[in-house]
Amino acid sequence: MCGIIGYVGSENAVPIIVEGLKKLEYRGYDSAGIAIYGTDGFNVVKQKGRLAALESRLDGCPIAGTMGIGHTRWATHGEPSDINSHPHVGSQSKIAVVHNGIIENYKQLKLRLERKGIPFASQTDSEVIAQLAEYYYNGDLLDTVIRVSGALEGSYALGIMCLDEPDTLIAVKKDNPLIIGVSDHGHFIASDVPAVLKHTNKVYYLNDKEIAVLQKGCVQFFNLDKEPLQKQLETITWSFDSAEKGGYPHFMLKEIMEQPKVLKDTIQSAINNGDNKKVIDNLDITRFNKIVITACGSAYNAGVVAKYVFERLCRILVEVELASEFRYKDAIIDEKTLVILISQSGETADTIAAMREAKVKGAVTLSIVNVVGSTIAKEADFCIYTAAGPEIAVATTKAFSAQLVLLYILAVGFAVKLGKISGEQEQELLSQIAALPAKLSALLTQVDMIQKYASTCVGYKSIFFIGRNIDYAIALEGSLKLKEISYIHSEAYAGGELKHGTISLIEENTLVVAISNCKQLFGKIMSNVEQVISRGAKVLLIGNCLDVEQNDKLSSISLPESNELFSPSLSVIVLQLFSYYVAANKGLDIDKPRNLAKSVTVE
Ligand code: G6P
Repeated sequence: MCGIIGYVGSENAVPIIVEGLKKLEYRGYDSAGIAIYGTDGFNVVKQKGRLAALESRLDGCPIAGTMGIGHTRWATHGEPSDINSHPHVGSQSKIAVVHNGIIENYKQLKLRLERKGIPFASQTDSEVIAQLAEYYYNGDLLDTVIRVSGALEGSYALGIMCLDEPDTLIAVKKDNPLIIGVSDHGHFIASDVPAVLKHTNKVYYLNDKEIAVLQKGCVQFFNLDKEPLQKQLETITWSFDSAEKGGYPHFMLKEIMEQPKVLKDTIQSAINNGDNKKVIDNLDITRFNKIVITACGSAYNAGVVAKYVFERLCRILVEVELASEFRYKDAIIDEKTLVILISQSGETADTIAAMREAKVKGAVTLSIVNVVGSTIAKEADFCIYTAAGPEIAVATTKAFSAQLVLLYILAVGFAVKLGKISGEQEQELLSQIAALPAKLSALLTQVDMIQKYASTCVGYKSIFFIGRNIDYAIALEGSLKLKEISYIHSEAYAGGELKHGTISLIEENTLVVAISNCKQLFGKIMSNVEQVISRGAKVLLIGNCLDVEQNDKLSSISLPESNELFSPSLSVIVLQLFSYYVAANKGLDIDKPRNLAKSVTVE
């Protein structure tokens, strides 16, 4: 969480930092701030609320300078307020810091510094970094940063400036992402590539406990023993356009609409000699007697879908665990377990910890990641990439869909290696997967109809999602999507579970979204539909095997015909659009839902 950016070069840092923060706002938007190295000290402007509020403040105070740092905050320690916003400056006004992460021993450090008479201004853990750096400062900022890093416990990506070193910006990281951008007019630090893409596509990825010393004309890297490091400059191949809205009112809608292409690219890389295919071919599934899938949020829901697909096609035991639970449960896994980590960002703290725990226990790890070069991509034994491109909306859509198709392809590949399906069946299944992008395109032409239906749903207090088997798995994602962005209470249930409690919540003014793609279970889900309608609910039925007459209680949306194992890819399109338009009709800030952040790099 939190986005940080810094710049040192020949241009005015203020617009560069503000533009960069706009691209990082998906990481947190409780407050924002900027510190510019000025002739008479640091010029610091901090403002609670969205970045737009900071921009208005900046309009009224023309500050300028060629070096600065900026921050957009997702509050952890201390309420969202001006004073708790970053950058934090030490009490001597000598050192300014932006921080992404959590300093776990900040209370001890703060107490130590307070006992020495150093006054603190904020309630944050981050301020301790600026105060400690000032306390340690010996005329050499690099030495100081090394010493501070040694004292900090927890996770951090830091940008640090010192008043005595006018042309030097230092960055260091542990367990939070940080990139260094190189342009012809200066150097950047940033939490993510889109923040610098307007200026450069040349970046270094900083590893844990590496320090970057940026100056206008050069950047140098060191380890914590102050030994110089050589790092590889990488070229970003995707364009600035992919991080722009392209005429859509929200990134979420743009990203929903991009899904046919994203699926096509992802499928291409996994079945037609692409990089993903090589990785899948090299993975010997016959070594394993169990698969554990672990992830958070929507990525976890993709794992629940995958459990049905793997178990059906491969007849191998699959467990799906929330990463935040898996990491602390002393999981029963060993070298005969394949642990699959799913993560859009590749930086989710709980998923990283789950991966490390799995490795310690000797399991083999395979990650499915969207952000190239991210921690999970780099540390897992094997990694396959979703070709979703940058995803900006906090609520994931295209990355989730890309995860699903990679999981289907993996399952088919594993089923062949395990001797569970023939070469002919493999070809049939792969051609069904390859047909999905065209089916998605067809479905996306129904957007007006979904929009119209969604516009009638704004007033519901609760919306429940039900399904059976794989339809239940995708119901989880439908419910999560809706509550994330529309703030309507929602839960997903396996259809058969309704009668064990949830049905007591069904009353007038309740909507139930029922998903039905499992042909042999159509009758069962329709029984559930009857049960809720007779208790006052309205029902929206979504599926590809619908034999129903619509009436004022029952509406339906038909999906293109597909193998039921791959039907979640179609159901989810309707569910995403439904959530999107409910939220749009409520006039909500869809790309940045309250209290959420896209990249959850804290526990
Ligand atoms: C956050 C996002 C979700 C995402 C989850 C896991 O909660 O808002 O959309 O599914 O994190 O993120 P990851 O990057 O690991 O997929």
